[in-house]
Amino acid sequence: MKNTCIIIAFMVLSVFLTNCTNKSDEYIDPRGTNYAGSESCIQCHKAESESAFHSSHFKATSPALKENVLGHFSKGKNTFVYDKNTKLVMEERNDTLYQVLYKNNKEVEAYPFEVLFGVKHAQTSAYWKNHYTYELPVSYYKSLNSWATSPGYSATVPNFERKIEKECYGCHSSNIASRYITTSSDSITFTNMEVEDFMNPKTLIYGIDCERCHGPAKKHVQTHLKFPDLKLAQDIVSFKKLTRQQKIDACAICHSGNDKLKIKSRFEFRPGDNLLDYFRGVPGSNDNKVYDVHGNQLGLLSQSKCFKKNETMTCMNCHNPHENTSKSMVSYSKICMSCHQDPKHTPETLKTVSKTAMAENCIECHMPKQDSNAIRFQQSNTAAMSSYSLRTHKIGIYPANKK
Ligand code: HEC
Ligand code: HEC
Ligand code: HEC
Ligand code: HEC
Ligand code: HEC
Ligand code: HEC
Ligand code: HEC
Repeated sequence: MKNTCIIIAFMVLSVFLTNCTNKSDEYIDPRGTNYAGSESCIQCHKAESESAFHSSHFKATSPALKENVLGHFSKGKNTFVYDKNTKLVMEERNDTLYQVLYKNNKEVEAYPFEVLFGVKHAQTSAYWKNHYTYELPVSYYKSLNSWATSPGYSATVPNFERKIEKECYGCHSSNIASRYITTSSDSITFTNMEVEDFMNPKTLIYGIDCERCHGPAKKHVQTHLKFPDLKLAQDIVSFKKLTRQQKIDACAICHSGNDKLKIKSRFEFRPGDNLLDYFRGVPGSNDNKVYDVHGNQLGLLSQSKCFKKNETMTCMNCHNPHENTSKSMVSYSKICMSCHQDPKHTPETLKTVSKTAMAENCIECHMPKQDSNAIRFQQSNTAAMSSYSLRTHKIGIYPANKK
């Protein structure tokens, strides 16, 4: 009798204990147990979280919820015509959005929007099939306020078979892997699937989150929760202590183009790491190379005199990494003027604009918008190609300025 009591008491206790430590109730980060997830940062870093959660970085990829999908689904604005018999229609069916292919007005196939890429100028989408994602042939472009071919896609033949590789996720998300995650009462196991380029949707962390830039922070969170009076940051890399090159590299891992030979996956990068351990051939050494305005801000910036002749300039001179580039041209111009109090413009240049316009718009003349050669797209029923246009980061004197 006594024994049974003890056993029952023990069983009750062990049920109680398993409940307390039940891992399935806890947040499990697919990157590993040393990650805490962005939600956990809010309690202590409200300001950074509030702005970062709404930034393009956090939305660089997102789930295809209706509120995240850009582009028109209403009649008259939702059709891309390939030829007189073939069209693609953006449709909503039972709360899911689809690109539906019609031939002679008969539905042939329908593919759901599942993963969204981009938010600021354009948005392209992907659907899952087996362990891969495939790009949808039509994307939304804000400059056109309309649907047009996804970059590199034909405007006459629809194609649903192009994979969105892990590479894209390397710059647009915080994690995607080929692993299964299994949990038991006392452990979490990560097992890789057999095929390395498989992607498990459950490992996808949408957007560029806090720990993508700051590195794993579980220990940091635990220490500060345990010792709330600690004012000095523990167990986290401090950007303040990094060298200029290390600060630049933390952005350049995604903002220095995609044509370098890779040594390691971008996902492995931690602040403080050296870019040269990830790629062979880092931009900056060659002034004659023409870098595309898309995706290679460092390549361009490093060709400008400002960057070469000043020993401290990083991306953070002009950008707060937790915010979008929503600053006005006036406030950017103030940053220019912090180094250039009295730029020497010739009388001819000074004649072209008023004094105030001159002081407020350094950007227009010295960082003009340029068309990307890498990203081009076509609207329905047109032969003309449209370009994606961005401001160049090669700060300089442009012939067009000389009137
Ligand atoms: C329990 C509170 C707490 C939580 C939760 C927390 N932090 Fe912190 N963190 C601090 C304190 C305290 C500091 C030091 C004071 C400061 O810089 O705000 C700090 C500083 C930092 C710094 C600056 C380090 C430096 O030296 O420049 C970063 C980066 C940071 N935290 C990132 C994170 C991230 C990412 C998360 C979520 C994964 C997180 N923190 C969650 C308390 C917390
Ligand atoms: C795109 C990369 C990026 C993302 C995403 C990001 N940070 Fe940062 N964070 C930085 C950099 C770079 C700095 C250093 C800024 C500087 O030196 O001016 C920084 C600085 C900080 C600091 C120190 C602020 C200070 O004034 O000392 C905290 C705290 C912080 N980040 C928390 C967060 C939290 C929380 C998130 C998610 C909600 C987040 N960061 C997302 C790149 C990022
Ligand atoms: C993991 C890859 C990654 C890292 C690291 C990263 N970025 Fe980005 N960044 C992106 C992507 C992708 C976009 C485009 C997001 C979109 O619009 O979909 C972007 C967008 C931006 C924008 C434009 C945002 C807007 O809405 O105007 C700025 C500015 C920027 N990044 C600066 C930085 C700086 C500064 C750092 C370093 C502190 C940094 N990024 C680190 C991938 C990254
Ligand atoms: C080397 C990093 C990198 C890779 C790889 C990359 N991107 Fe990007 N992507 C960026 C950056 C940075 C931006 C935003 C600024 C720019 O255009 O320079 C961007 C912009 C975009 C945009 C427009 C976002 C907006 O807000 O306007 C889309 C859509 C996009 N990328 C999709 C993709 C797809 C699909 C792939 C794979 C085929 C891919 N990207 C690969 C870095 C990358
Ligand atoms: C951190 C300081 C710093 C900032 C910020 C800065 N510059 Fe510069 N810039 C320099 C230095 C240093 C030089 C080289 C001067 C020299 O060679 O005497 C330079 C050179 C230039 C030149 C001459 C380029 C050439 O090819 O001859 C122009 C134009 C210029 N900057 C415009 C700008 C504009 C516009 C901005 C803002 C978008 C800006 N700079 C921001 C430091 C800076
Ligand atoms: C001298 C100031 C300056 C520096 C330094 C600078 N940028 Fe920018 N950046 C700008 C301006 C100005 C814009 C245009 C903002 C706009 O159009 O709203 C911009 C826009 C961007 C955009 C958005 C492009 C677009 O049109 O969507 C990205 C991404 C970006 N910068 C990344 C970087 C990265 C990464 C670095 C460091 C390698 C960097 N910038 C350094 C001034 C700067
Ligand atoms: C209307 C176009 C225009 C605007 C606006 C403009 N610049 Fe210039 N800038 C030029 C041209 C063109 C030159 C080459 C010299 C010349 O022909 O005047 C130049 C030359 C320069 C130089 C190199 C000469 C020197 O002083 O070393 C700097 C630096 C510079 N500008 C900075 C700025 C800054 C900072 C602003 C904003 C306060 C600005 N510029 C606004 C067109 C412009």
